[in-house]
Amino acid sequence: MIDQKSLSSPGSSIDTTPAEEEKQASKSKKPDKVWGWLDERVGFSVLRYAVPAHANTFWYTLGGITFMGIVVLAITGVWLAQYYNPDPSTARESVIYIQNNAPLGDVIRGIHVWTAYLVVITAVLHLIRIVVTAAYKRPRELNWVVGIALLGMLLFVGIFSGTILRWDQESYEAMSHNMELTNLLGALGGYFADAFTTSVSMLPRLYVLHVSIMPLLLALLLIVHFFMIKHHGISPTATQADNGEAPAGKLPPFKMTARYTTHLRLMVGYGIALLGLAGMLGTIFPQAIGPTPDPSMEITKPPFLFFWIYPFENWFGIPGILYSAVALFGFLTIMPFIDRTPLRRLRSRRVIMVIGLILLVAVLVLSIMTALAPTARHLS
Ligand code: HEM
Repeated sequence: MIDQKSLSSPGSSIDTTPAEEEKQASKSKKPDKVWGWLDERVGFSVLRYAVPAHANTFWYTLGGITFMGIVVLAITGVWLAQYYNPDPSTARESVIYIQNNAPLGDVIRGIHVWTAYLVVITAVLHLIRIVVTAAYKRPRELNWVVGIALLGMLLFVGIFSGTILRWDQESYEAMSHNMELTNLLGALGGYFADAFTTSVSMLPRLYVLHVSIMPLLLALLLIVHFFMIKHHGISPTATQADNGEAPAGKLPPFKMTARYTTHLRLMVGYGIALLGLAGMLGTIFPQAIGPTPDPSMEITKPPFLFFWIYPFENWFGIPGILYSAVALFGFLTIMPFIDRTPLRRLRSRRVIMVIGLILLVAVLVLSIMTALAPTARHLS
């Protein structure tokens, strides 16, 4: 765990509270020339705006940590793209090449895959923080909806298309599930249908989705997400809101006693810790490459982040994937429009908290059930 004090301590000219600034100014009148020169030209000091002190605690930094993970994914992804070949006849061999021959290939691949899993986990923890502190309430309802779209994009587009790229047995089965879901969706699944184009096969198209369409959509959603956060300011704590200290869900300027630059430093510090964790997990649990696909078999389970869906496939077949995903994400999307009272303390929101807890426990229990169960056949 990173010591927040050490990260936020004064010492740099951009990372101080107003009181600390006065103290520093009275201690030394010497201007920092290099900093001053750079700041005059680049304007870094606009980032020193005031934020409430609680915005710089761990739970309120989870969004920033998720963002840092996305940056790691982009950098390691560009590295991997130099060696990956999306041609179905050579894709799997190119992954083996990355693992065994490309410079730092196994390390970068391990970091990329584990960061992808960790980013979904930090995004879910961020979501839990938002629910517990009721930060989705007026006026932040639409930013919550953008957040759900971000989570859906990371999980259903990022992790799904990434799994396919390896082009081994598990990838083939994931792709086959996708094709059956596409048939189920009819016109809505058009983009994923073979008939969409006969000039490019599915694997290169999913590669384009993974390396260009998804990052672009993710970037657009993040811009909207960050714009709205800046517009609303970070939400007050439940106590501040319920005590009437934050009219319209925003704290008055005199309650803003910390600096955003401290938040940025924390993000970078935790981001480096996340990178270290991904590297460690990549070393302890190296990414296997399964056998060449055999279309007659169904012998794998999905990546563990999809384990909660698997029992629904056992019960309802392929449509179970659609039912469970739509039910969970649909409920999450409308949550701010159900829990509409201005009250934010947990004890004032018992019903929504119990529903949230049941959903969380259900996802965990279903995931454990899948981890313990043997693989089952779902594809027709
Ligand atoms: C790619 C994933 C995401 C990134 C990078 C991200 C980033 C951020 C950041 C940096 C903040 C401000 C600091 C913080 O609260 O941590 C924030 C706030 C917020 N996020 Fe996210 N977020 C993501 C996903 C989500 C999800 C899944 C939700 C929920 C559905 C969500 C809803 C919100 C809301 C409502 C706020 C305002 C919170 C407040 O004012 O207290 N975000 N996000």
